[in-house]
Amino acid sequence: MTIFTWYGHATHGLETDGYKILVDPFFSGNPVASTALEEVAADFILITHGHDDHLGDTISIANRTGALVISNFEICEWLANRVPLTHGQHLGGGFKHPFGYLKLTLALHGSALPDGSYGGNPAGFLLTTNLGKKIYLAGDTGLFGDMQLIGEEGLDLAVIPIGDNYTMGPDDALRAVKLLNSKTVIPIHFGTWDLIDQDPAAWAARVEKETTTKVVVLKPGETYNL
Ligand code: NI
Ligand code: MN
Repeated sequence: MTIFTWYGHATHGLETDGYKILVDPFFSGNPVASTALEEVAADFILITHGHDDHLGDTISIANRTGALVISNFEICEWLANRVPLTHGQHLGGGFKHPFGYLKLTLALHGSALPDGSYGGNPAGFLLTTNLGKKIYLAGDTGLFGDMQLIGEEGLDLAVIPIGDNYTMGPDDALRAVKLLNSKTVIPIHFGTWDLIDQDPAAWAARVEKETTTKVVVLKPGETYNL
């Protein structure tokens, strides 16, 4: 079984085959974080892009837990003397990690690091777990037509932003669901601040009326098993 946890905003966790994977760990300064920074466990940390609300507490968690940080090459170079272990990949490239096969996917966004350093291109992740589940973590992105190619992989779960302003809003996220054709979708990157406030139940109703994808709306701290 794979357990997905939403910690609020774009911070989420996957527990699969005994491994704890933390994605975009933004806890300190996150007004909706469901868990205290000191309590978070991780064997691996995945970073989609360099922005503060995604890189977040990576450095402190990686140093406390010894987790391997996986991101694009540029972010891994920037982190190399700040955390114990990194593994750089890049768009379109996959690698067989202990928890499954992880590929970096396109994302339409920015990726500057907190000190203004170049953070390479932003990414999403496509994970094939050791148990054969396909999970797409979109990261921060606008809608793009090649989501259809990701959908052709046969997705069990897609985790996508719906907040608008910085990423896809509800209308484009609905179009994304049609391209991704995932069995299940979980919306994130909304409700953190007024600027990205959305009604996830209303969005879920639209998606389920117009597609065959099931929407799972979580509250920060809630989990979904797949
Ligand atoms: Ni961002
Ligand atoms: Mn963001």
